[in-house]
Amino acid sequence: MPVSNKIKNFMEQGSWIRKMFEEGISLKRQFGEENVFDLSLGNPVIDPPQEFFSKLKSIADNPISGMHRYMPNAGLLETREAVAGQLTDETMIAFTANDIIMTCGAGGALNVVMKTLMDPGDEFVIFAPFFVEYHFYADNHGGSCKVVPPDRNFLPDLDAFRDAVTPKTRGVLINSPNNPTGVLYSSEVLSNLCEIIREKEEEYGTKIYLVSDEPYRRLIFDNLKYPHIFDHHVRSIVATSHSKDLALPGERIGYIAIHPDCPDKQEIIDGMVFCNRTLGFVNAPALAQHLVTSLQSVTVDVGLYERKRNFLYSKLTDMGYSVVRPQGAFYMFPKAPIDDDVEFVDKLKEERVLAVPGTGFGLPGYFRLSYCLKDETIEGALPGLSKAISQYS
Ligand SMILES: Cc1ncc(COP(=O)(O)O)c(C=O)c1O
Repeated sequence: MPVSNKIKNFMEQGSWIRKMFEEGISLKRQFGEENVFDLSLGNPVIDPPQEFFSKLKSIADNPISGMHRYMPNAGLLETREAVAGQLTDETMIAFTANDIIMTCGAGGALNVVMKTLMDPGDEFVIFAPFFVEYHFYADNHGGSCKVVPPDRNFLPDLDAFRDAVTPKTRGVLINSPNNPTGVLYSSEVLSNLCEIIREKEEEYGTKIYLVSDEPYRRLIFDNLKYPHIFDHHVRSIVATSHSKDLALPGERIGYIAIHPDCPDKQEIIDGMVFCNRTLGFVNAPALAQHLVTSLQSVTVDVGLYERKRNFLYSKLTDMGYSVVRPQGAFYMFPKAPIDDDVEFVDKLKEERVLAVPGTGFGLPGYFRLSYCLKDETIEGALPGLSKAISQYS
């Protein structure tokens, strides 16, 4: 058997989005591209902002000698200074380039953080519904994830969180705004979580890191201000990317930022730089680092996603779906009208609408719809969504 049993099993568990992608291809072949409405993928259809292309052209016209060579594993100094400057502006906490490591996207950043912090058998606490890769990332480094269920608004159940933290807990991983719910954690939620973290640190005599996976940080609506974790816990680390805020998922560019006052900071940074190198990333892509240096305050048109959120939310609730109104990112996580979310997603497929069952995010009974798509795709899905729910009412 060429593939290990463990990986075969993981592939089975983590295959929902890919499965939908493949079924989409087959349905499109059968019914024509324009007659299949694929709301299963979080791959933004919008292009990066104009500033990105101007910068790309300017670099191509004026190449910097040596710019494609190896560099320090933490990344280019000027890029880390730019990221630190932006974070200082946003948080009013003084970050320096030393607090930043450039990474291969948020996925790369999370692997570096987990590898640095965990010994075999250690745990990260995560919150359902979650980005499915978390379990696999933890396993990459001999650890595992412990899942905390949500309340009815997809916020952490604090009692269950308290029970989930053990002496083996090295980190608590949050994702806000959230994939798949679009829910944003308020300062109050962060404060409650961190109070429990500190209570548990005291009880067990351990150090617990709050890690925030925030590739959707800039995609928030309703004029909300982003509540940063750095205000709530000194042992805090952000793992993020420009995959969504600059629409650059294919360029694999992101970063890690550690709280400037984190105890043992230098030891952790040295560990993370080592892991960035030895996981084989070596350093984040050089060209992408040059490009994002001057784009730290630039974001895609968030209003566009907000309009799509408003449109889809109002249509779904009119149809009778129960949906928590997303405050950011570009996903919605409606309740399926039957308990079996996989069966309901199959029903949607019969209507040529592709969605991902909540089971794929550790929360059965719901399904995820993406709206980082063309208006025609979202509009085209509406009759199928309506017909599917009407069969159960
Ligand atoms: C919650 C979450 N975390 C991490 C990632 C990975 O992002 P990146 O493409 O920057 O690795 C994604 C991508 O969709 C995501 O939704």
